[in-house]
Amino acid sequence: MIDQMYRKAVLTVAGQKAIENAVRARGWGMAQRFVAGETPQTAIQAVHDLKKDGIMANLDLLGEFIESPAQCTQFADNVITMLDAAHAAGITPYVSIKLSSVGQGKTVDGEDLGLTNARRIIRRAKEYGGFVCLDMEDHPRVDQTLAQFRTLHGEFGGQHVGTVLQSYLYRTEKDRDGLDDLSPNLRIVKGAYLEPETVAYPQKADVDAAYRRLVYAHMQAGNYVNVATHDESIIHDVQMYALAHGISKDAFEFQMLYGIRRDLQRNLAAAGYRVRAYIPYGRDWYPYFSRRIAETPRNAMFVIRGMLKG
Ligand code: FDA
Repeated sequence: MIDQMYRKAVLTVAGQKAIENAVRARGWGMAQRFVAGETPQTAIQAVHDLKKDGIMANLDLLGEFIESPAQCTQFADNVITMLDAAHAAGITPYVSIKLSSVGQGKTVDGEDLGLTNARRIIRRAKEYGGFVCLDMEDHPRVDQTLAQFRTLHGEFGGQHVGTVLQSYLYRTEKDRDGLDDLSPNLRIVKGAYLEPETVAYPQKADVDAAYRRLVYAHMQAGNYVNVATHDESIIHDVQMYALAHGISKDAFEFQMLYGIRRDLQRNLAAAGYRVRAYIPYGRDWYPYFSRRIAETPRNAMFVIRGMLKG
């Protein structure tokens, strides 16, 4: 409950324009802890650095709720540029996209622009043997994102496209069951948006319990699972569950955010687990940064100290 109140308070404050302007003016130095840089080259450098520790990468060009169709298409072009740059640097690209950034909800030439642009991105990623994960956003987008995932999965195959389920939503276990016919590659997260009690568990204990159930169910169904959390107790339980049920270490991977729990990321990789860091980059870092601050008061203290040092 306290976690929910803290998150609500931070996201509400962060949504105010004056706060945004103040943080944008002084915050890039602090954001660098969570964001690899503003260009594809800085992100690619981060991929190389992580590789030295045996950690794989998931590149994410930042940008949310981009307004005009032309901007959405430009954003998709920028993701494709990044795929090209990664391929040229000898990296098999693994990227995440938010469908809202590439036009979800806008109809152009009789089709949802998010679907059109996602298709262009996945086509290019597939040419390079890569993978695109469709991030999950706030709850009104879940139905359309799952429907578009199903379409894209049909067109490109599960080796090249996956999506995300959020354990804080009441609906998610049913959603997972409903995707089993695809044997999908799914990332399981707790959920990062401010959601009402009508759709999401208000208590952290319920979110955590649903998280475990989702991961175990997806493993039991024989599907590849991306266990995306920094929660050590869940990570431990998943390790034990996999051991007890004969699920091999290459049937799942742990995913964490760039700059968060690097010690844990390295230790898991050293122990032979697959580990992937989610590397955000780009100029539009403020909403991403706000959500990281909302996740734990420790991060808020880090920002406040940074601003006081100013
Ligand atoms: P929880 O919040 O319970 O934290 C567990 C432990 O980790 C605590 O000790 C906490 O302090 C620490 N911790 C958590 N976040 C931290 C941070 N930012 N800094 C420092 N310590 C931190 N969400 C979404 O809605 N859609 C999506 O597509 C994605 N995608 C995604 C990809 C990947 C790779 C990850 C790791 C996460 C996401 N998320 C997401 C975000 C996710 O929903 C969730 O908000 C965060 O992962 C935080 O929750 P934890 O599972 O880490 O647990």
